[in-house]
Amino acid sequence: MTHDRIDGLDTTGSEQYWEGFYRQRARLWSGKANPVLVDVTGQLEPRTALDVGCGEGSDAIWLAGRGWQVTAVDVSPTVLDRAAASAATAGVGSQVDWQQHDLAHSFPHGAFDLVSCQSLHSPVAFPRDQVLRAAARAVAPGGLLLIVGHAAPPPWAGNHDPDLHFPTPEEVLASLDLPPGLWRTDLAEVSARQAAGPDGRSGTLTDSVVAVMRLAEPDV
Ligand SMILES: C[S@@+](CC[C@H](N)C(=O)[O-])C[C@H]1O[C@@H](n2cnc3c(N)ncnc32)[C@H](O)[C@@H]1O
Repeated sequence: MTHDRIDGLDTTGSEQYWEGFYRQRARLWSGKANPVLVDVTGQLEPRTALDVGCGEGSDAIWLAGRGWQVTAVDVSPTVLDRAAASAATAGVGSQVDWQQHDLAHSFPHGAFDLVSCQSLHSPVAFPRDQVLRAAARAVAPGGLLLIVGHAAPPPWAGNHDPDLHFPTPEEVLASLDLPPGLWRTDLAEVSARQAAGPDGRSGTLTDSVVAVMRLAEPDV
């Protein structure tokens, strides 16, 4: 089911919707890095990272603070400006390259040691599988692709489309269509956690978590 407006926001395109979404308020999310990102990457040696659909930049700023050189991408110029200002305040402005892309049409160049896709969902038509496959192609040998998405609607989602399907970790893995022998699956699981949504509303969030490593030495 598609609508021209959701909660009063224009849904005729990704940029129109997400610009409207972020212009509604000065800050929407908690400002904290996503906990699965923190758990999974906290022990990794900092190299280069790509944050796909970075929103207000909390993950990119957290990674930069740990020494990563980050490229962070979003469709909304407003949220990228906001994220860049937060990075400057945090003293990591020079470590993050903020790029505006509509990921349905373009993707950042380069290969990265970590590619992170956190809550990459959109109520607007969005080729998520295609974008996740592009994210996999952007992983350098020996690097990690981390995909964390909703396994069920977040409690603060309001009137979501009842036909909306949230893919299981197995479905995400299958959609990546990774060549056998070149990748190792480290995580494919559903986990629950307490989380704060827009305006600080909290609830139990169920995550679908997939972490796959591109082998430095292919097993073929
Ligand atoms: C639910 S938010 C998640 C933000 C952030 N990753 C987080 O975990 O807080 C989804 C993000 O994806 C971005 N996004 C949605 N569609 C996009 C597209 N077509 N191209 C680039 N970014 C997009 C939105 O602007 C939004 O910031």
